[in-house]
Amino acid sequence: MKHHCSISKGLLLITLPLTTIGCEGGDDYGAAPLAALDAEVRAPDDNPVTEEKSALGRLLFFDPVLSANNEVACATCHHPSLAYADGRDLAVGFGGTDLGPDRKPGNEFPHVGRNAPSVLNVAFNGLMAADDQVNPTEAPMFWDSRLKGLEAQVLDPIRTPSEMSGSGVTAEDAIANAVSRVAAIPEYAQRFEQAFGTPGVDADRLAKSLATYVRSLVTRNSPFDRFRRGDATALTSEQQEGLAVFERIGCATCHGGPMLTNWSMHKLGVAENPARTTPDEGSGDFRFRTPSLRNVALTAPYMHNGTQATLDDVVDFYLEAKSLHPQVADVDIDPQTVTPAERLALIRFMEALTDDDFSKSVPDSVPSGLPVPRASAEE
Ligand code: HEC
Ligand code: HEC
Repeated sequence: MKHHCSISKGLLLITLPLTTIGCEGGDDYGAAPLAALDAEVRAPDDNPVTEEKSALGRLLFFDPVLSANNEVACATCHHPSLAYADGRDLAVGFGGTDLGPDRKPGNEFPHVGRNAPSVLNVAFNGLMAADDQVNPTEAPMFWDSRLKGLEAQVLDPIRTPSEMSGSGVTAEDAIANAVSRVAAIPEYAQRFEQAFGTPGVDADRLAKSLATYVRSLVTRNSPFDRFRRGDATALTSEQQEGLAVFERIGCATCHGGPMLTNWSMHKLGVAENPARTTPDEGSGDFRFRTPSLRNVALTAPYMHNGTQATLDDVVDFYLEAKSLHPQVADVDIDPQTVTPAERLALIRFMEALTDDDFSKSVPDSVPSGLPVPRASAEE
């Protein structure tokens, strides 16, 4: 790793949230070296992890009762059968029917405007380097990092019209209504009391239980992790070559550290998704957060708007970026330096970032009695 200028890890997110971290030459974005994921899960002081809260959060995550039409659950767009993403370019929420790539929008909202990221390992959002731990109240959320911390993030879909609330209701009322629907169900009332020690369902407790569950969805044992921990056989020789190429051509300057991201905003010049009627400017000036590449092979299609169908396409995008995409600012990879074999090795390396040892189960039922979103194979 070249470090011709240094950036304090903590400072990066706190003081420069919308700035590209670059240096003269523009090719060092301050990402830490690639590393295994060995950090612990950290929760805010006022929301310690407990079994009861996590189990409650899981039921809420799969329960369409959080949406105004009783049809959309968190799991509709973050489904275990799709690695806690949805397999679509742009997510479809309120008014939609079916699940995953088959999901069809209703009349009012064609889509929510962005690609649904996996929520696996969101517990580690913000983690910069192997020897760091997460600050859970500062963890950056969304493609533009506009919210900090899971407790703040989990309420957002509930008050977003195209996701769960539908139109004609204020954001505040959307949350209050969801809280009343949950509170009116005796099993939830009882579970909230067990989880929090006193009776009562409110937005704060709803957020805390959802956040606790999402925090439990971690995968830290990909072949890459095992390789970095010392198992030299965990990666094939082709994957090891791919890792070397990934570092050599500069992928790791942005996709570095244990989460394979520097968490900063970059302008790559990804084309607009034609299904959108307005351009998506990201955090400003068309910048988007470098996404984690953990489990990336499971979560196609790619980019903030799902316009790259496969990892193969993504690599083509990078190799052609400077010549084909007029908006490109932050990527400068010379395609001449990558042989066809190295190109394939790069893809095989990204496939070694998969740890599919996560829960794929869906609750048999949820306290509202509403149908739980299921992949057709599960029905
Ligand atoms: C209609 C589809 C949809 C539903 C329903 C939905 N999400 Fe999401 N989720 C998305 C999309 C799209 C994004 C990215 C949005 C953005 O970047 O602006 C996202 C982002 C997230 C993130 C941030 C991940 C990251 O790394 O930044 C978390 C966490 C999350 N959702 C959890 C939830 C929870 C919890 C619920 C239920 C309360 C939920 N989502 C409901 C589509 C959905
Ligand atoms: C300048 C920083 C930077 C560099 C260098 C970089 N990336 Fe990225 N990468 C990003 C950003 C930012 C995005 C999201 C862009 C968007 O959605 O508009 C992204 C998206 C991706 C995705 C899609 C992930 C997903 O979940 O949608 C993959 C895969 C990827 N990059 C792989 C690579 C590879 C391979 C290289 C080297 C050839 C590389 N990146 C170089 C910043 C970078």
